[in-house]
Amino acid sequence: MRQLIAGNWKMFGKLADVTGFAAAMNAAPAGVDLLICPPFTLLERFAAALKGSAVALGAQDCHPTPQGAHTGDISAAMLAETGATHVILGHSERRADHGENNAVIRAKAEAAITAGLTPIVCVGETGAEREAGEAEHVVRSQIQHSLPPGFAGVVAYEPVWAIGTGRTPTAEDVTAMHAAIRAALAAQFGAVGNAVRILYGGSVKPGNAGALLALPEVGGALVGGASLQAEDFLAIARSALRG
Ligand code: PGA
Repeated sequence: MRQLIAGNWKMFGKLADVTGFAAAMNAAPAGVDLLICPPFTLLERFAAALKGSAVALGAQDCHPTPQGAHTGDISAAMLAETGATHVILGHSERRADHGENNAVIRAKAEAAITAGLTPIVCVGETGAEREAGEAEHVVRSQIQHSLPPGFAGVVAYEPVWAIGTGRTPTAEDVTAMHAAIRAALAAQFGAVGNAVRILYGGSVKPGNAGALLALPEVGGALVGGASLQAEDFLAIARSALRG
């Protein structure tokens, strides 16, 4: 399976950053799928700047309904209209900042699929849950409850304690968790579950990407901080080819 390197810009980036970043993507290596997920305000400009490029565009959230009286929210159909093809859902920062639970995330994933978007559903344990030996149990439960039937999207395993901290799990821990996620997906969705790409996210940098991407069942990376610099993002993409 080709690897997917997805950049999550979170609440960073200005209109003025888009042209230069998109131009730098002309140097993107072939053989790996690239995706950039900027804030809503940059989507349309990114779509124009990436026209003709192999780099895909995604958003960071959507509302579960197609339209309605939901001040401040944006629907999956609206995202699709900008040129986005993917949407990150259930990121731990949204689970924490906006109280999103598995049921809401599942409804959002259904809305995304209905609008023709590929959902990237994030799962991952907190540091306390890992220390308590609960990591696999928590993640299995997130998989079970936040993915809709027939899920043909992407899953991102992001240990909460590894996000933005410079800390990453050991190779053994990533391997064990990705194997557990694969088993859960196969049990839940059969053959469809075997085709779901499982990304690793949390402090992926040019220096550690090659080792992480080479692990079994790691189908790519969800990259936060290091995706803001085109050179770092491209370096991570190149590591995917060596992985
Ligand atoms: P990070 O963020 O790469 O800055 O740790 C990853 C993420 O939250 O998606």
